[in-house]
Amino acid sequence: MSDPAVMAIDRLDKAGAKRELARLALEIKFHDAAYHRNDAPEISDADYDQLRRRNSDLEARFPNLVRPDSPTHRVGAPLAEGFNKVRHARPMLSLGNAFKEADVADFLAGIGRFLKLPEGEPIAIVAEPKIDGLSAALRYENGALVQGATRGDGEVGEDITANLRTIADIPHAIDGAPDVFEVRGEVFMTHDAFADLNRQQLAAGKIIYANPRNAAAGSLRQLDADITSSRKLSFRAYAWGQVSDLPSDRHSGVLGAMAAWGFKVQAHAVCTSVAELMAYHGKMEAGRAGRPYDIDGIVYKVDRLDWQQRLGAASRSPRWAIAHKFAAEQAQTVVEDIDIQVGRTGKLTPVARLAPVTVGGVVVSNATLHNEDYIAEKQIRVGATVLVQRAGDVIPQVLEVVKPGAKPFVYPIQCPICGSPAVRDEGEVDWRCSGGLNCQAQAVERLRHFVSRNAFDIEGLGEKQIAAFYAAGLVTAPGDIFQLRQRLEGGEGSYEKPHGKPLREWEGWGETSAANLFDAIDERRAISLDRLIFALGIRHVGQGNGRLLARRYESLAAFTAAMSPDRLDELLEIDGIGEAVARALIDFFSDAQNRAGWDDLVAQLQVQDMVRAATTSPVAGQTLVFTGTLEQTSRAEAKARAEALGAKVSGSVSAKTDLVIAGAAAGSKLKKADSLGVKVIDEAGWLELIGTTNE
Ligand code: IVH
Repeated sequence: MSDPAVMAIDRLDKAGAKRELARLALEIKFHDAAYHRNDAPEISDADYDQLRRRNSDLEARFPNLVRPDSPTHRVGAPLAEGFNKVRHARPMLSLGNAFKEADVADFLAGIGRFLKLPEGEPIAIVAEPKIDGLSAALRYENGALVQGATRGDGEVGEDITANLRTIADIPHAIDGAPDVFEVRGEVFMTHDAFADLNRQQLAAGKIIYANPRNAAAGSLRQLDADITSSRKLSFRAYAWGQVSDLPSDRHSGVLGAMAAWGFKVQAHAVCTSVAELMAYHGKMEAGRAGRPYDIDGIVYKVDRLDWQQRLGAASRSPRWAIAHKFAAEQAQTVVEDIDIQVGRTGKLTPVARLAPVTVGGVVVSNATLHNEDYIAEKQIRVGATVLVQRAGDVIPQVLEVVKPGAKPFVYPIQCPICGSPAVRDEGEVDWRCSGGLNCQAQAVERLRHFVSRNAFDIEGLGEKQIAAFYAAGLVTAPGDIFQLRQRLEGGEGSYEKPHGKPLREWEGWGETSAANLFDAIDERRAISLDRLIFALGIRHVGQGNGRLLARRYESLAAFTAAMSPDRLDELLEIDGIGEAVARALIDFFSDAQNRAGWDDLVAQLQVQDMVRAATTSPVAGQTLVFTGTLEQTSRAEAKARAEALGAKVSGSVSAKTDLVIAGAAAGSKLKKADSLGVKVIDEAGWLELIGTTNE
């Protein structure tokens, strides 16, 4: 980010890099959730991309520090509630990004290296517009549409067959396709359909969608398919998932086949050089405003499918494709006010309230200002005219001040909600409210987090209900949730005031919804240790760290015992847990109120021990070293294959090495392996070993 407090990567030492990777994992996860949950992102796509890029650059510099919960391993969206889940037969991946010509050149050169292609061998690349919508998978069996799903988290999506069937571009039956063919593509809304919808929404007093992408998302995720049917959604096919047979050995050929079966496929170009790709990108970017729907870049894909197969995927995205983004759209407006928002861990985030302005067809009225330094450095003041930018589906970004405002913004020294002093620790960029759980904003945010999807995931207990129970004084700490039935429905110790009546008599509740809520709460009394730890909402302790801690301690008792200051060193020994995380944990559990809350909570739960998953690959969990020259594949391809089978690939041989794969002319590493008695095989042996597991 253009945040001055963020240090250049090459100035970070190992400890600093570890801390930074932990911070980035947390921040990216937060923005993933904001983007995917309420379709309400908080930063621009460009900033988000920069966070991810900083993360992968750091990982490239310090490969040993790659975290198990690295954002590089994750595709995206948490699941929506209310639809059945569908496990994708093949994961739905995301795309890496290119921003400039050099990135495109790197992409092509990388492919040549990975495939060990002779110098100068042309690589045919299909270039097609990148639609700014939502991806969907359509499964056809014997020509009939049997299932349609969202991408979800890439592995598991939602079954939205009924909704997808209402889209005119999606055929219910196709002729001439293989027995099983899963078409993948984008669901989106045209500008005209978007404008019509918002006009109707306005007339009916309903919510106005911020942009076509949000409108498409909101329309597709309706539990009532009749509503989806009333929205004019479009679909374009551009990829596929599980197939029993492929109609071509080229990407362009399969696009042609899908078009012949009745799908709409976008016009595309086949290019063989960086110059051709840049020319196509330039032409499309120039013509962008005149298109009937939003595109936010061009996707480049290797045309030969045998090459795609060999290139495979790094954890999050395929090596055979990349998205070359367009520049973000910008406009000028006036800062009318600056508000401070209080987050779950007390972080105070300044937000600019803007005079509404249209940026790239979307009305913009808020922008995050990140932190105090950002405001000071850019001299953002109330009354200033600023340049704002949005890219795709995001809350925009204030780039710079065009005309200064009169009065500098005085950063508050108190929490705007509870009045506790705000503190900014040395080396930190953020101010925090020091009120802890006494701050209503923090308490409510923490409770919201506690019941959120990846934490306790209690059906029927969302933000609105939490806020109401909190306001009534019924739920102020997580443990209170598990006493709601008793407190509201009578019995000994039942709750009397101010509501003095059972939940079914509260406004907005009835017999069934109240009973369902109590049942849903009871259902979650059994919880896995990793979810429980994540649910606490401790700073720096996201899902990944929750899992690391649960794996290390395995049981509730062992974990609780370890949360003591004299065991800090032990925490630091856990691979992936850094200083900031360890301290945050110890601080949390050293606070008497937190500790009492924890004891009260866990007394009402059955916490399941963490069980490790078994794995079947012959190299799973092993540490391998490749040395010498491999003839059949590039080193990168071999490494990727080994990692996909659950092995760790190391650069040097030690007593911890399980297996050395020695190619031609192997030297000192081979000698060292021999001297240490480490098992050595040649390339043929390696191919045979993994061949047996190559499904
Ligand atoms: S290919 C494995 N092609 O962009 C690659 N994606 O950032 C699968 N998208 O999730 C995607 N237009 O939702 C591909 N012509 C296109 C696309 C496209 C839009 C979306 C898609 C994907 C996201 C990746």
